[in-house]
Amino acid sequence: MARLSNDFLSEIKYRNDLVELASSYMQLKRRGRNLVGLCPFHGEKTPSFNIYTENGSFYCFGCGVGGDIITFVMKIENLDYMEAVKFLAQRAGMSMPEDDYDDSLGRLRTRIYEANREAARFFYSKLMSKEGADGLGYLRGRGLADSTIRHFGLGFAPDERFALGDHLRSKGFTEAEMTAANLVFKSKSGRGVLDRFYNRVMFPIIDVRGNVIAFGGRIMTDQKPKYLNTSDTLVFNKSQNLFSLNNAKNSKSDQLILCEGYMDVISLNQAGFTNAVATLGTALTAEQASLMKRYCKEVILCYDADEAGQKATARAIDILRRVGLTVKVIAIPDGKDPDEFIRRHGDKGHAAFQNVLDNSGNDMDFRLFKLRALYDFNTPQGKLDYLNDAVKLICELDNPMERDIYASRLSDDTDVAKPTIMEQISRGIRRNNYKRRKTEFSQIQKNISARDDRVNPQHADNLRAASAEENLLAYLINNPDKLTYIHERLSPDDFLTDFNRKLYIYFSDKILNNTDPLISVSADFSEDERSKIFRLANSYPDMPHTVQALDEFIGIIKEEKSKPTDSEIRNSTQDEFASLFSKLKDSRQ
Ligand code: UTP
Ligand code: MN
Repeated sequence: MARLSNDFLSEIKYRNDLVELASSYMQLKRRGRNLVGLCPFHGEKTPSFNIYTENGSFYCFGCGVGGDIITFVMKIENLDYMEAVKFLAQRAGMSMPEDDYDDSLGRLRTRIYEANREAARFFYSKLMSKEGADGLGYLRGRGLADSTIRHFGLGFAPDERFALGDHLRSKGFTEAEMTAANLVFKSKSGRGVLDRFYNRVMFPIIDVRGNVIAFGGRIMTDQKPKYLNTSDTLVFNKSQNLFSLNNAKNSKSDQLILCEGYMDVISLNQAGFTNAVATLGTALTAEQASLMKRYCKEVILCYDADEAGQKATARAIDILRRVGLTVKVIAIPDGKDPDEFIRRHGDKGHAAFQNVLDNSGNDMDFRLFKLRALYDFNTPQGKLDYLNDAVKLICELDNPMERDIYASRLSDDTDVAKPTIMEQISRGIRRNNYKRRKTEFSQIQKNISARDDRVNPQHADNLRAASAEENLLAYLINNPDKLTYIHERLSPDDFLTDFNRKLYIYFSDKILNNTDPLISVSADFSEDERSKIFRLANSYPDMPHTVQALDEFIGIIKEEKSKPTDSEIRNSTQDEFASLFSKLKDSRQ
């Protein structure tokens, strides 16, 4: 990848403020010069995500991810480097330097989006033509109005093996592009490429920016698989997207209704509930939960009434709560899923579903109800076991008022005095807090040291040298005017660990060219390396930063360098060993 100029990158960073941008995705609180908030990249309850206003970077002590504004956009919008730069340029009203770079991967992504859009158009026009009569009949037969079909851009893939491929070729798409979009695949007989979808009604999946990123296709009979979905491509990852989030994000509600299937979401929309979304044929993931968190505060779980749906509900509750969402659970009174329920109520679908919504229990009701069924209340032991487990659940509630309500209910239900129950709850909360702090802390330690090992495999074996090297690098980044002073005393050869040596050369080069040493770290390093670098850069205020401290870092690096390494000792003959040993003694004095 040819590079963007430092001037251009500086301007991007100058014209986009990380604090302002991040605030549109999350809540930030000021803490001294910096800002903190709940990390948008992993689920947590105590904020460990920091934004450093001084150099416009961020670092999360929980998951160990860090970077500059470009990294932030890459991660939160799920873009590659060039796309993130474009996003920021556009946001600041700047135009990209033309032909400055060879962005072949970015170009392929654009072609996939275009091929998908053309395919969606093709499927729609087929649905509206004679060939698509079966498809249109099927959708209408399932109660969809033509306006709904148009709104969702539903379509029909004809019962042929070359229809879409031929069409896309006539529009100038190459087979490589269609294959990369997963719209066609190579035939075994070698006769070119075959359409992936045929004789199915088609559901385009559209992301929040309006791009067609994938398709689901339903067979119109009882054959299997019932739904065929686009496999993951350069622009689509099924565990990071939700069906109809593009509609739901405009719904002005701070709730999202999460259901299992495409048809549930579409029926709900038709009945006026535009805030419905569905996962794409997989169990809910933490990424999807974080994604929802950006658009709502509360999720109403509306899974199928069957056993699988109830299991999935219990699992989803945990995942959603972990990212800080409140959860409600709907039990569909009659019918298998929301689609069937709404269909059954015909014209009164909206009112009927609204009624179900109004009566939705929160997740605690759901869990306590399920729990209660497990115990035999006729025995004291059964009652006691239920109480213990129920108290554990109530302890997970963050809101004291809610805890109080459930304690009252539990007291009524079991005939145990409420103060006794409250006492148990307080004890449980103290225990949970202690456990949480402990696991969060050890998780942080684990993440950081795991990454240190990946990024700098020599770190663990050279702790003293590596930490002096890192302090020196942090000092250099924050005091570029000391470059000459440092260069006179320390050469790259003095470094013990290769990664830190590479950074020393890299930052020196930037400073010699009069540019911000961090300006293109997002382009030049991997995600792990980047995170490590920004942790380093931002650790500076916590370390001593006098010139004496600097001299000490340099001293330690040189001293460690002059020590013989383990392998030198192992490979040396007796004589050599004696001389090495005396060298070792000298350096320790
Ligand atoms: P369901 O089987 O509950 O489908 O699968 P549904 O939405 O009620 O389908 P209809 O009403 O019969 O048309 C729920 C979801 O699981 C995914 C789809 O996303 C579907 O909407 N799924 C299901 C698949 O991806 N592949 C399958 O073969 C089946
Ligand atoms: Mn259904």
